[in-house]
Amino acid sequence: VYEPKIRPKMLSDYIGQEKLKEMLSIYIEAAKKRKQSLDHCLFYGPPGLGKTTISNIIANELGVNCKITSGPAIEKPGEMAAILNSLSEGDVLFVDEIHRLNRQVEEVLYPAMEDFAIDVLLGKESSTRSLRLELPHFTLIGATTRAGLLSAPLRDRFGIISKLEFYKKEELTKIVLRSAKVLSVPIEEDGAKSIAMRSRGTPRLANRLLRRIRDFADVKYEGVITKDVAEESLDLLNVDKLGLDQNDRAYLTAIVDKYSGGPVGLETLAVSLGEDSGTVEDMIEPYLLLQGLIDRTKRGRVATESAYRHLGLVQ
Ligand code: ADE
Repeated sequence: VYEPKIRPKMLSDYIGQEKLKEMLSIYIEAAKKRKQSLDHCLFYGPPGLGKTTISNIIANELGVNCKITSGPAIEKPGEMAAILNSLSEGDVLFVDEIHRLNRQVEEVLYPAMEDFAIDVLLGKESSTRSLRLELPHFTLIGATTRAGLLSAPLRDRFGIISKLEFYKKEELTKIVLRSAKVLSVPIEEDGAKSIAMRSRGTPRLANRLLRRIRDFADVKYEGVITKDVAEESLDLLNVDKLGLDQNDRAYLTAIVDKYSGGPVGLETLAVSLGEDSGTVEDMIEPYLLLQGLIDRTKRGRVATESAYRHLGLVQ
């Protein structure tokens, strides 16, 4: 059975990131008015906040195609050149995890972004000549979990740089209600609120939880996602009152139990969790910091009193 797509297609359907939407609508209108390609955009921030969705919306609003690739997927300069060469005038090229492009591939992007051209090297060693190939005007949209991971020359070539923020409870509630409507899932406002409260400020998570809770509602309950259905399902899914999952709690428990509450260095902590430090820093820590459950000090990570309270270790 066909399942409708829940990602919004136009800026007007996109909930939250109000400031970004306002700026983008102006830049998009200006580019269209001048019949130019939109400036290159860099979106950064924790995963699941809508970087890909925004990029698709930008292409839709511009009335152009959106070609999607990622940093790790492009291994050779020639592959990047081929992708750039396949674009049509005005198209959007979305590069997810753009901080993972290797150096030679990244260097193809410099003239492409700046002059809409690629330099092809011909001949060998002493007789090398370079030939400049013109490209269609295009918009590169890069996404990364941390802007700091980008090389300065690449970062400097983006005209629009924006950080995506965690969503407010009210925004997530609206997103859940909208997604439920698109999926024809019966839901009560309080049910949507419960899901929103435990989605770590992240639409991707809210939508994932909505789908899982719909399964519980259909099989164990009467099909409607009420507050009780949502809460009981969320408990079964091991998502706690703050939206923390097992990984988040393992992180907090490690600081508290193994390192007496900290400070403990990121690398040490990551190793004890069996995770890569970049993953810990980009995926786990941002929401814990926002919730005030941890502090980052010069000497390392520290669990706050709120963390102890949340884990039920103090009153
Ligand atoms: N689905 C995922 N993110 C969304 C957003 N920001 N607005 C509306 N629907 C969404």
